[in-house]
Amino acid sequence: MFQTKAEALRASFLAFLLSLPGSGAIKAEHVATYDIFVQTQHPSGECMYAFDGDEQFYVDLDREETVWDLPEFSKVYAFDAQEALPYIDSLKNNLRALIQRYNVTQDPSEPPEVTVFPKNPVELGQPNVLICHIDRLFPPVLNVTWLRNGQPVTEGTSETVFLASTELRFHKFHYLTFIPTAQDVYDCRVEHWSLDQPSLSHWEMQEPVQVSETMETTVCALGLVVGLVGSVVGSALIVRAPHGGHNPRTQEPL
Ligand SMILES: *[C@@H]1O[C@H](CO)[C@@H](O)[C@H](O)[C@H]1NC(C)=O
Ligand SMILES: *[C@@H]1O[C@H](CO)[C@@H](O)[C@H](O)[C@H]1NC(C)=O
Repeated sequence: MFQTKAEALRASFLAFLLSLPGSGAIKAEHVATYDIFVQTQHPSGECMYAFDGDEQFYVDLDREETVWDLPEFSKVYAFDAQEALPYIDSLKNNLRALIQRYNVTQDPSEPPEVTVFPKNPVELGQPNVLICHIDRLFPPVLNVTWLRNGQPVTEGTSETVFLASTELRFHKFHYLTFIPTAQDVYDCRVEHWSLDQPSLSHWEMQEPVQVSETMETTVCALGLVVGLVGSVVGSALIVRAPHGGHNPRTQEPL
C-alpha cells in the first residue's frame, strides 16, 4: 500500500494527530460568511460572500451573474450565480408567507450614521479617493449622490453592496476619485426614509496650520533654555547630595 516506510510513518502520524481528543475543535482563525437577504423594496435582495470581513463577490440578481470585488478573486475560486438563485427564491416565498400570516408592519427606520473621509493623506493636486460610509442602516433602501460644489457628480464614483453591520443593520461604502484643490468642496448626499430631508455630509480640504518661522525659533529657544536650566539644576543636586544627605548612621546623638 505505501511505497516507502517514510510515507507509511507520515500517514500513521497524521492518523495519530487526528485521533487526539480535542483535535476536532480547530481554532477558527478565518471567517467566511454568506449574507443573503430579501425585501419587498428595491433592491429586492442580495447575496454576498465575505472572507474575514472583506467582500469577495456578490450575485447580481437582475443579471444573474457573479460580480467579483477584484478580478483576481475569480481565478482563485469559482461561484456560479445560478447556485444562489434557489436560496433567494425560497427566502422570498418565506417572506411572503410571513407577511400574510402575521400581518406585520414594517420596522421603524432610523437615521443612518454618515461619515466622509479621504482614503489617503490629502495633498493638493494628488489624486485621492473620498469615502462616504453609511452605517447603522435599516431598511437597506437608499439613494446616495456625490456633490462637488453643490453639483451632482457621477464620474469616478463606485459603491459596495449592502454589508452586514451590527444589530441586524447594514452598512455601505460609496467612493469618489478626486483631485484635491483649495477651492472644491464635497458633500455625500444621503436619502433614506428615516430622513425628512436628504442629509449632507461635508468634506473640504483643511487649511494646513501655518507656523511662522519666528514662532518656531521662539519655541526652539525656549526648549533649549528649559533643557539647560534642567541640566544645571540636576548637576547642582548631584554635587550637593553627599553633603546634604541625612544618613541616620552619621547623625550626632541628641
Ligand atoms: C393588519 O394590520 C393592520 C394594522 O396593523 C390592520 O389595520 C389590518 O386590519 C390587519 N389585517 C388583517 C387581515 O388582520
Ligand atoms: C430614491 O430616488 C428615487 C427616484 O428619485 C425615489 O423614487 C425614491 O423614493 C428615493 N428613495 C429614497 C429612500 O429616498
